[in-house]
Amino acid sequence: MLKIDLRSDTVTRPSKAMFEAMISSPVGDDVWGDDPTVIKLEELAAEKFGTEKALFCVSGTQANQIALMSHLSPGDEVICHSYAHIYNYEGGGIAANAHASVAFTGDTRGIMHPEGVLNCIKADDVHYPKSRVLALENTSNKGGGTCYQWEEIEALRAVASKHGLTFHLDGARLYNALIAKNQSESDYGTAFDSISICLSKGLGAPIGSILLGNEEFIHHSRRIRKRIGGGWRQAGLLAGAAIYALENNVDRLAEDHAAAKDMAEFLNGQSWVKNVVAPETNILIFGLNEDMNQEEFIANLDSKGIGISQMGPGKCRMVFHLDVSAADVKEVKSVLASL
Ligand SMILES: Cc1ncc(COP(=O)(O)O)c(C=O)c1O
Repeated sequence: MLKIDLRSDTVTRPSKAMFEAMISSPVGDDVWGDDPTVIKLEELAAEKFGTEKALFCVSGTQANQIALMSHLSPGDEVICHSYAHIYNYEGGGIAANAHASVAFTGDTRGIMHPEGVLNCIKADDVHYPKSRVLALENTSNKGGGTCYQWEEIEALRAVASKHGLTFHLDGARLYNALIAKNQSESDYGTAFDSISICLSKGLGAPIGSILLGNEEFIHHSRRIRKRIGGGWRQAGLLAGAAIYALENNVDRLAEDHAAAKDMAEFLNGQSWVKNVVAPETNILIFGLNEDMNQEEFIANLDSKGIGISQMGPGKCRMVFHLDVSAADVKEVKSVLASL
């Protein structure tokens, strides 16, 4: 087992306090709509974001795919960044689940701009797919944890409204963006038609994502969730962890961002590092010099109990989270310095 796991922020384990919150959560049958802790979580999330409703889902992928199935009809098109998780890492779900196509913008580091989106919007012509959804990701995973300025979101919202596009946010790590940019949940709840948020990443819950939107959308999404086998019973055990995460693990995300910056500075001084992508949140991407074998480098660290991941040829990723202490960061630096 890895001693220091920087492969992802999905690797966190529930703390003792989170476990206690889980086992003391009252439960019911969520498919019957009577699990009190799930109801409490959905109401809490909807209240924070100022949306009419929320739906507790198994995963970020499930929440995104439900939203896309809900918004899209076969032959429609989603506009997203070429780095988008919904396109790259959800098993071809846009095609397989929503029977829709995709148009890409390729703007900097996962962040979309209005001009790129406008280039993707198709004329209303029978030859073309129907442009239907504009999907953003904040923070952008493949972009290295980049986040949007609020003005950029507003500009994209204006494009979506003008062209009749449903505005979806893959907010798997939205709380990292909120902390980094000092933005508010309710602004996001107002700007987007649907938002997915993961509790199981930097927030430290073992399982679970929230899908937010208006009453009609969530009602439809609940049906789709059931259809794909996502109706769950005593899910309150997990909702208890999610509530604990929202109440206790948000502000501390700033520590992960600081750790990523600290490691970036260290890597910048290493001769074997080709480039370091300046981190904005908890994800740090860096390139290796051509003479470094990436597979061997990752395997070597693994043999020393340190896990990191790759993000394409020569590109490595470290993700900082609540199970990585200051002492761990120090230890990783000392191992890297000895290479
Ligand atoms: C940006 C983004 N969206 C969605 C997901 C999917 O989340 P899950 O692993 O819970 O399906 C991830 C997972 O890493 C992600 O990084």
